[in-house]
Amino acid sequence: MTDQAQSAGKDRVYIFDTTLRDGEQSPGATMTHDEKLEIAELLEDMGVDIIEAGFPIASEGDFAAVAEIARRSRETVICGLARAQKADIDRCWEAVKHAPRPRIHTFIGTSPLHRAIPDLSMDEMADRIHETVTHARNLCDNVQWSPMDATRTEWDYLCRVVEIAIKAGATTLNIPDTVGYTAPNESAELIRKLIATVPGADEVIFATHCHNDLGLATANALAAVEGGARQIECTINGLGERAGNTALEEVVMALRTRGDIMPFYTGVETKKIMHISRRVASVAGFPVQFNKAIVGKNAFAHESGIHQDGMLKNKETFEIMLPEDVGLAGTSLPLGKHSGRAALRAKLKELGVDVGDNQLKDIFVRFKDLADRKKEVYDDDILALVTAHMADD
Ligand code: KIV
Ligand code: ZN
Repeated sequence: MTDQAQSAGKDRVYIFDTTLRDGEQSPGATMTHDEKLEIAELLEDMGVDIIEAGFPIASEGDFAAVAEIARRSRETVICGLARAQKADIDRCWEAVKHAPRPRIHTFIGTSPLHRAIPDLSMDEMADRIHETVTHARNLCDNVQWSPMDATRTEWDYLCRVVEIAIKAGATTLNIPDTVGYTAPNESAELIRKLIATVPGADEVIFATHCHNDLGLATANALAAVEGGARQIECTINGLGERAGNTALEEVVMALRTRGDIMPFYTGVETKKIMHISRRVASVAGFPVQFNKAIVGKNAFAHESGIHQDGMLKNKETFEIMLPEDVGLAGTSLPLGKHSGRAALRAKLKELGVDVGDNQLKDIFVRFKDLADRKKEVYDDDILALVTAHMADD
């Protein structure tokens, strides 16, 4: 299906990638300057709409990386993070202003627990939000504001601060589930109610930023889109604080695969997903779990006899997406003790070995014996079994 056909009649959802900011905040995931430039380039090439390139006031290194990513960017919006302080916002602007399309993202924790940290009253915090968003907007016409821990913020107060931020000039309103506390029905309802309640809400973009503490980040992000959010904040491989953020590859492929029930599309070129996933895993030093959705080693692999037989007859039997669509060469049918004769025959054919039924029977017995002793049987093992069979024949 062409991208155009795929997007017909659907709403566009913007993909905001924060691998280089929230992803890098994951303990141990620090990336070098050059690695960040490489990942930013891959993100832009893949068609991500907004890259959160870092937290410029956090360090000289972060500042330099954000500034260089901004300079090299072409069409992608380059965003930097800033706390609700003028010095942070100024520093952020100094870094992102080099981009053809810069954005300042400023935030403050609005829930009772987070308000206690700077020890601000509700009124004092409301004033601070007004001042800092106004300041950011005077520097840049693209301003994102986030009430951190929004999902644990009192409803009335959340409406109040969102309205203040909109009036002060924020153009994107991000509603973070900072500690992965929400659930899909609540996530959808929160965005829906905010858009229906807050004056001016229909003139800005609402964004969803979910963490994965309960393993719900992808479901919550998609639910927020159902509720009216049109920007998903996510990271490659779901890298991020604690259990991570919403995984980019999961939301993008979910929208692509289930467009029948979720009428939305993104601008991501999905064939580039696997390469960037591998690069992020490598530079961050965070291997991808084997059974990770979309990008795990086993996501398109089938070992058991019934599954392999089904896949050899019709790929749709056990796959809902084409592996080629995420940049893989194809389905993999690793041979192991659960594999059946059909997969062994297919493997032999692939290796250029033509055998009759009786020969296959004997090689299969040898194969099962080996597979009981070995986790995975490789091509060389199969060829050795064929050689042994020929010698004994
Ligand atoms: O999780 C969070 O609340 C954040 C904000 C800075 C947006 O990362
Ligand atoms: Zn976050």
